[in-house]
Amino acid sequence: MQVTVNVNGISQKVDVEPRLLLVHLLRERLGLTGTHVGCDTTSCGACTVLVDGVPIKSCTYLAVQADGRSVRTVEGLAEGGKPSPLQDAFKEQHGLQCGFCTPGMMLAAEALLADNPDPSEEEVRWALSGNLCRCTGYMNIVKAVQAAGAAMRSAEAGAPVLAGGGQ
Ligand code: FES
Ligand code: FES
Repeated sequence: MQVTVNVNGISQKVDVEPRLLLVHLLRERLGLTGTHVGCDTTSCGACTVLVDGVPIKSCTYLAVQADGRSVRTVEGLAEGGKPSPLQDAFKEQHGLQCGFCTPGMMLAAEALLADNPDPSEEEVRWALSGNLCRCTGYMNIVKAVQAAGAAMRSAEAGAPVLAGGGQ
């Protein structure tokens, strides 16, 4: 089947098997290996991407379901070669160790901040509850998401953005 998917702003026309999963389309056909595969059973969230702005687990989402939709992967977070506020905040707040969960975490967080730019700790934890991290203990991930929200709000208000954000 032929599907047309806009991936990180670029329209991609591809022939796919009806059974092809979105994560395999992204990684193997489009070379976007920033989307990781952890459990392959919708449990860990490593494969999270945004479809029309909504976080989905691409290991259990067919590529054909994305036909006509927009997909955003971790490769689409940076703008003009500059890390996004969320990427900066994960770095500054030490929101990662091995980094395996990080792309999925950042996309789930991106969707949260688009809806709620000033989330409480509980709201961040709830939004990321489908994403597992074996390394960090989550504290610094929560801090990173809140710092990114603060940086985005400052940028929107025209104020200088402090490195690492803050609460
Ligand atoms: S690889 Fe998709 S949820 Fe774990
Ligand atoms: S940083 Fe290693 S799994 Fe999250």
